[in-house]
Amino acid sequence: MMEKSELERILAAIVAAEKEAAELVLHAHGILAECKSGHRDVVTEYDRRVQELLIRRLSEACPGARFFCEENDRHDDLQAEHLFIIDPIDGTMNFVRRMNHSCISVAYQSRGELLAAAVCNPYVDELFTALKGGGAFLNGRPIQVDPAPLSETIVCCGTAPYNEALTGRTFALMERAYRASLDIRRQGSAELDLCSVAAGRAGAYCELSISLWDYAAGYLIVTEAGGLCTREDGSPLPFDGSKTSVLASGPQAWADFREQVSL
Ligand code: IPD
Ligand code: CA
Repeated sequence: MMEKSELERILAAIVAAEKEAAELVLHAHGILAECKSGHRDVVTEYDRRVQELLIRRLSEACPGARFFCEENDRHDDLQAEHLFIIDPIDGTMNFVRRMNHSCISVAYQSRGELLAAAVCNPYVDELFTALKGGGAFLNGRPIQVDPAPLSETIVCCGTAPYNEALTGRTFALMERAYRASLDIRRQGSAELDLCSVAAGRAGAYCELSISLWDYAAGYLIVTEAGGLCTREDGSPLPFDGSKTSVLASGPQAWADFREQVSL
């Protein structure tokens, strides 16, 4: 068992590193996108620079730590004693297109147990944090999921843009989510969608294929805010690095989604 003060120190180091990285994102210029797996899957020098900065700062705070990151294929052992799961810029397409809705996301886990998370949206100066068993916070204030039924909320949807085999099913789900709720949103950052659920702004978030770095931090923030975060079929999320669907929401909206929206 890790001491609470040690966990708080690690969270403070994550937050300090993210704030430093936020300056890079906010003052980015001449952003050039390179394609990765396809034309929708892009990376920029800023994704790489933010990731390098986070790894440097977190290694200083936690010598010997391991990393599981989106860029540069750094996928260390998920069972390591100190492991940081990093998405340097979640919402890279928004970043490239200057949509001003992206975030820096870091989760910390020890021997496979998620213990701390922070998601920083530099454009609106919002910082979502959570410690396991300690609740979830937005800029230091406690947050809670919306207890309302799905029909009284809006639903965030992701399009699983890197897997076109899922496009038909995704848009069928989106239509069903729209009919079962007040409206839908496609905002372009999975982590910020999860934080929107945690803060009670959205009733649910669903996407059919995302990666561990897209949901590790948001998972802890949503569950610490009293929500559920599972696969779209209701089964537990994998934490072995495989891609997965995700459904996150308050308890009532989760049940409504499974009954009224899931195909
Ligand atoms: C993507 C964003 C997007 C979601 C994709 C993710 P990236 O992350 O979170 O909203 O639809 O599934 O991969 O590539 O911008 O870090
Ligand atoms: Ca991402």
